[in-house]
Amino acid sequence: MTERAKDEAADIQGLVRTGYGSLKAARYILLRIEDSNAAKQWLSSLHFTSVQDCRESKQNQALQIAFTAAGLAQLGLNADALEHFSPEFVDGMVHNESRSRRLGDVGTNAPEHWDWGAGDQEPHVLLLAFARPEKIQAIEETLRAEIQANGCILLRCQPSSDMDGREPFGFQDGISQPKMDWDGALQPGGAKDRDYRNRMAAGEVLLGHSNEYGFVADYPRDGDIGRNGSYLVYRQLAQDVTGFWQWLRDETGPEEAKTLAETMVGRTIDGQPLSGLAKMEGSRGRNAFDFSGDVDGVVCPIGSHIRRVNPRLGDHPGGNIDFLGNLIGSLGLGGTAKHDAVASSRFHRILRRGRPYGKTMPYEQAMQPGAEQMEAGLHFLCLNASLARQFEFVQGAWIASPAFAGLAGEQDPILGDRDREARGHDCDQFSYFDEDRVPRRIDQIPQFVNVRGGAYFFLPGLNGLREILK
Ligand code: HEM
Repeated sequence: MTERAKDEAADIQGLVRTGYGSLKAARYILLRIEDSNAAKQWLSSLHFTSVQDCRESKQNQALQIAFTAAGLAQLGLNADALEHFSPEFVDGMVHNESRSRRLGDVGTNAPEHWDWGAGDQEPHVLLLAFARPEKIQAIEETLRAEIQANGCILLRCQPSSDMDGREPFGFQDGISQPKMDWDGALQPGGAKDRDYRNRMAAGEVLLGHSNEYGFVADYPRDGDIGRNGSYLVYRQLAQDVTGFWQWLRDETGPEEAKTLAETMVGRTIDGQPLSGLAKMEGSRGRNAFDFSGDVDGVVCPIGSHIRRVNPRLGDHPGGNIDFLGNLIGSLGLGGTAKHDAVASSRFHRILRRGRPYGKTMPYEQAMQPGAEQMEAGLHFLCLNASLARQFEFVQGAWIASPAFAGLAGEQDPILGDRDREARGHDCDQFSYFDEDRVPRRIDQIPQFVNVRGGAYFFLPGLNGLREILK
């Protein structure tokens, strides 16, 4: 590894490279700063894990840090300095009604109902602590004491749960993830980009690096404050586990409930691609498909969760055909509305880093009448370099919008807010093909996921962090 690559790795927080999966316990600690000098001194004394730390040795624990725009202002960054950050970050997740509507933060999801994220519950700092389960309590206690002694107020200390790689509804999670192009081997541009690939330019996550357009996008350069930083989205999503499975049972009967749930997610409960999805040439494993063999969504519905959030072959389902085929596709002369209504996936990828929380139960039990309701959900976290083009696009145009890819009256079947009033349309339906390839449509799907809190953070490089805490 070159000296330069080593310096970069020592600057980038480890979370960009790893979700610290072997450290099974996590705490998401949300703070407000009252005394900025005391807070700066304290935060400067902590060790935040870098990519280089992770490369050199297996970590027994890790600590990461991120700030909201309100937090950076509290630490003394003036409006001029903040202006160089992205407008969505500076605005924040909750301060603009239009943003809330686009993200689906309406009705019961509206920020006024959140446990944290709005008003005096808007955090300044997020500390992420990861450790082995037997160690996490001591780390939490130390941090709690330090927070109090150093001019900060603890808003929340949120534990994750170890659900053995599953999310609370019972599905295997954390399977499909873009691979960062750490070596800069990718040269975006040209017909080859029409093929789906899982490798993604580093600049899609890290500021100061070349992105999928082949450009380094603008970022805060003053004292290198922004370089090697990333925008971190945190949304706490409560899942109604019994509501989900009991609705499925009522809709189809207990035998078929799992199949319908899998059709809505777009993967089997154990994380396999739905059977019949053609494999991508030269690829293997659970992620080796690109929907090219299922252009019309007969196997994996166009509106299913995984196909909405990553349509893979995107607006060119045929892929990289030949010069004439590509030209016809580019001019919009081939395909149908369904085929070209989604913009190319590679500009809208996110790096998921969340974990589940709370308690859940096997789906067979959750389906039983009278099954006990438990508090559970996802601490949904993702990293991206452009909040507008990546997270907000996926959440707004693909998950929450009732007009996606030629469909109408539907939102993401798992995550939809179903708020007809805010949308001006029905948004509680879901279309799919049954096993005999007969088209089906269900309606009146309830809301299964509620937003409980959220904020946009900036996860700085460690040089940028020193600049912030100066
Ligand atoms: C409670 C909420 C959610 C649940 C239960 C859920 C569940 C799942 C499951 C089971 C998978 C398939 C396994 C995998 O590939 O990792 C998946 C994939 C994915 N989800 Fe979600 N998810 C939730 C929220 C979200 C949100 C809010 C976003 C984005 C804004 C999102 C983006 C993705 C992406 C990008 C993938 C990978 C798709 C692919 O490349 O095939 N999810 N999710």
